[in-house]
Amino acid sequence: MTRPTIRLPEGFYLHELDVIDSTNDEAKRLADKGAQSGALIWARQQTTGRGRRGRAWSSPVGNLYSSLLLRPDCPLFEAAKLTFLIAVAMAEAIEMVSGNQIRPDCKWPNDLMVNGRKISGILLESASNDGTQTDYLVIGAGVNVAFYPDDAERPATSLAALGAPTSVKDVLQIYVARIAHWLPIWEAQGFAPIREAWLTRAYGVGEPVIARLTQRTLEGTFVGLDDDGALVLRETDGTEHRIGAGEVFFKT
Ligand code: BTN
Repeated sequence: MTRPTIRLPEGFYLHELDVIDSTNDEAKRLADKGAQSGALIWARQQTTGRGRRGRAWSSPVGNLYSSLLLRPDCPLFEAAKLTFLIAVAMAEAIEMVSGNQIRPDCKWPNDLMVNGRKISGILLESASNDGTQTDYLVIGAGVNVAFYPDDAERPATSLAALGAPTSVKDVLQIYVARIAHWLPIWEAQGFAPIREAWLTRAYGVGEPVIARLTQRTLEGTFVGLDDDGALVLRETDGTEHRIGAGEVFFKT
């Protein structure tokens, strides 16, 4: 099958596939064989696409499935913040391909929403040789370009459904260009500018939020993001909690 040519910025290397189990799994296999930072796996279709929390990610031809392999020279907890950089880059790409008609919101930790419906999800997986320092990161990103799954519990949408039909190739190309824009900023200035950019698009700041953690559920107001990327939830009595992992629900 003829595939459209993708132009990638310097330092990114495309691995193009028609079908694969999961681009994240392929990226990990390549990483384990020594692939270099910047490898970008792009598949037209996934047979076992994965979402966060072990959920399946519906992967028909027509949507974007990509995974980027990075080898940042930093501890795992620092590398994990790259998920916010990726969310910002993807939000910008969606906005640009839509001709600024669609402005996705960033929902903590790494979903992109339009009118309260999910349009994109990110799955970050990491590996370390010593449990502290990053060996590699695989950052999987899916975007509903032509289709979206019909799930009453987790409403979704697509670029096509929003009246902004585009090609998967265009989304991918701009997404990688935006990553290439933000990565040197992250390397030079750290998380602060990424955090700021994410917050300008944050979904639900100042709104009531419910955080479902492993042991308990907390209710309060989403007051912001701390310097480590944790969601700050304030209870009615003023107690603040920093939530580093879990699932959050907004009432709106
Ligand atoms: C989520 O919102 O739960 C994360 C979804 C991540 C889906 C992408 S599609 C490309 C990459 N490969 C996968 O198997 N998952 C990610």
